Amino acid sequence: MSDAAILTRTPTRLQTLRLLRQAVHNPIDIWPPEVYNLPIVRDNFLGIPRYYISDPALIQTAFVDNADKLHKSDQMRRALEPALGQGILTAEDDRWRAQRRVAAPVFRPAHVDSFLPAMIAAARATATHWQSLPNGEEIEVGHHMMHVTFDIILETMLSGKGNIDTDRVEQSVADFLKSAGWAAVLAALKAPKWTPFPGKARAGRGRQYLRDIVTERATLRRRTGERHDDLLSLLLDAKDPETGAGFSDTNIVDNILTFIGAGHETTALALTWTFYLLAKHPDIEARVLAEIAEVTNGAPLEAEHVADLTYTGQVIKESMRVYSPVSQIGREVMQGFMLGPHQINQGDRIVVPIHAVHHHKLLWDAPDVFDPDRFAPDAVKSRHRFSWLPFGAGPRICIGMQFALLEAAAILATLLPATRLHARPGYVPVPISRVTTRPEGGMHMTVEHRR
Ligand code: HEM
Repeated sequence: MSDAAILTRTPTRLQTLRLLRQAVHNPIDIWPPEVYNLPIVRDNFLGIPRYYISDPALIQTAFVDNADKLHKSDQMRRALEPALGQGILTAEDDRWRAQRRVAAPVFRPAHVDSFLPAMIAAARATATHWQSLPNGEEIEVGHHMMHVTFDIILETMLSGKGNIDTDRVEQSVADFLKSAGWAAVLAALKAPKWTPFPGKARAGRGRQYLRDIVTERATLRRRTGERHDDLLSLLLDAKDPETGAGFSDTNIVDNILTFIGAGHETTALALTWTFYLLAKHPDIEARVLAEIAEVTNGAPLEAEHVADLTYTGQVIKESMRVYSPVSQIGREVMQGFMLGPHQINQGDRIVVPIHAVHHHKLLWDAPDVFDPDRFAPDAVKSRHRFSWLPFGAGPRICIGMQFALLEAAAILATLLPATRLHARPGYVPVPISRVTTRPEGGMHMTVEHRR
């Protein structure tokens, strides 16, 4: 795939204006259409060369072999830094490395497995709630999934929810992410940070609420000296091996907020899309139910069952292919390098259009068809590993990947045997991508009790 010639598009001024408008609403609408059928496409957006890489081998060259020459994109930073400061997702170089080292023990496979009881307990609370609803009741599935994954992230990272108001957090995150499209466009235009835009004040209030609740929690823990086996205690205790200095309170808040933000909404969206796809494919849903029944012997799901839910795991991966919760990752090139035959220069931008890679005509047969058998072990072996990259690639790959996959399987296998969800007749979801990809207007489905 990599040898194909590069296609360059230079939008006219009128097209640029249209693209800017689209970028605010749904950034993936501005991708050149060829990202779905060519290995690499270049455009000159506002005078800056930008490379859209869909070829897995070229993604590996950029994100693995030349990772040290890349920084996160200025648009991403401008969108997220107001809330996440210099936390692990937004920091670069040594500052990033130190934070990744501190957080790593929480995400080792054995430690992640130890979170399963908390994951299942939160899922059971949702199952009980769903059981209390009348048959035929309509719910917004995304909202329910946000609640369950939020409880899990607080339990596992902060040892509990305390007085944090889940609904207010959900609204604050949504308000903040709505502003991300504007922030990215204004960064591309090099507009000053004070430039007003619709929803800016609301986003600011949301961000402040999130920072305040986390600051309160961190300050309390530092004051009381209470110890827990969680991320917050690791961050409070961490010392830089060279200087011996600890993380500042601001940096601890940056990180806790990063883990809360990155660690619940994404998994909630993966589950929301999975429930929708299963409702549309009853034959696949029946296979998942049969597997759960066989593994659990018809009893409620327990932690030790999750590793045996092979087909359920395939369903989650395929759902994340069709509707990737994160639709793109972007980088700014800090030092030039060769990308296959193409010279990439300092200052250029690189985008991996994850959604396009997952629907690429040269990588997938019938890319729009939902088929979990694509993730059977032999099928996976026959593809380049970067044909599927919902968690990113290279050293900045999602630290919570294993956590998210286990969590999604545990929640799905707890809820599905008790409740069938039905999509509204004739409903066709419109994915809107603002940092994360959600169904426009929410995912409204009706509840039917199975037993
Ligand atoms: C389905 C669920 C998830 C998806 C699709 C997802 C996706 C991603 C992606 C694509 C990146 C890379 C961004 C980039 O390269 O610019 C990332 C990074 C990250 N994710 Fe996730 N994520 C998920 C769940 C989680 C969970 C559960 C946690 C924590 C509990 C988490 C924490 C993080 C952090 C801290 C980073 C930054 C890592 C670094 O820069 O070193 N994510 N995630």
